[in-house]
Amino acid sequence: MSLTGKNAVVTGGAKGIGGACSKTLHREGANVVILDIDPQGGQLAEELGRGALYLHCDVSKETEVREAMDKAIQAFGGLDILVNNAGIQRYSTVTETTEEEWDLVMNVNLKSAFLCAKHAIPSMQGKGAGIVINVSSVQAFITQNNVAPYTTSKTALLGLTRSIAVDYAPKIRSVAVCPGTVDTPMLRDSLALSPDPEAVFQECVDMHLAQRVGSPEEVAELIAFLASDKAPFITGQAIRIDGGLGLRVAGSKRD
Ligand SMILES: NC(=O)c1ccc[n+]([C@@H]2O[C@H](COP(=O)([O-])OP(=O)(O)OC[C@H]3O[C@@H](n4cnc5c(N)ncnc54)[C@H](O)[C@@H]3O)[C@@H](O)[C@H]2O)c1
Repeated sequence: MSLTGKNAVVTGGAKGIGGACSKTLHREGANVVILDIDPQGGQLAEELGRGALYLHCDVSKETEVREAMDKAIQAFGGLDILVNNAGIQRYSTVTETTEEEWDLVMNVNLKSAFLCAKHAIPSMQGKGAGIVINVSSVQAFITQNNVAPYTTSKTALLGLTRSIAVDYAPKIRSVAVCPGTVDTPMLRDSLALSPDPEAVFQECVDMHLAQRVGSPEEVAELIAFLASDKAPFITGQAIRIDGGLGLRVAGSKRD
């Protein structure tokens, strides 16, 4: 699964799923540009060494995205892989969600993917090939309570994925990756909101047929595979990596 000679941008690439992605793509031989608002991305780029670069960028803002993408393209001579991974979670129903909160979640989770694709695809076209991978969620298919803006943004990412796949085929592919619960700083922050984080974590474990939550590294391995020459016939799809979350009929478990 070599990515030698490929140039990748990973948004939200400082930590969590994005951090694992930055490491895995780099290990497979790609040059990796980490776009993040967290300076931890700088430490990670330093750790990775040659072929890694951190650029501070709020991916929900077009001026910052345009500038960062130009720098990324100049740094390594064009782009082959874009991983739109940056995302945030907020907890509210439709009637509780303020306009500001709605816009924030939409801008970080959805508009960022549009903006990054908009400013990355011309370079891919110049090189004659490329892939845009959008990190959606299993919540594009099933929904927990109190995450109305999040679920909406993750579902819309599947539409964006399809549009990119259709508009830029055959040279450019686009795939959405839909994880179940993954053990990242985002999950740990969510658990910390509960009076009993351990019990909620166990509920997360029990929801998955795999009887565990996912690791950032296994999501990163899927992304590296999709970005590689091993997956040229996969485009426009939403690929679930969710340990069987949501498959079991409620109440049917027998011990
Ligand atoms: N952890 C899960 O259980 C899970 C499940 C399904 C989908 N996802 C999705 O996977 C992606 C990564 O999630 P994670 O759990 O690793 O999250 P995380 O919070 O651990 O990491 C997200 C990264 O994105 C960065 N980021 C946030 N806003 C940004 C912005 N405006 N501009 C640039 N960078 C920004 C953060 O600084 C951070 O480094 C998200 O899109 C999330 O919705 C996560």
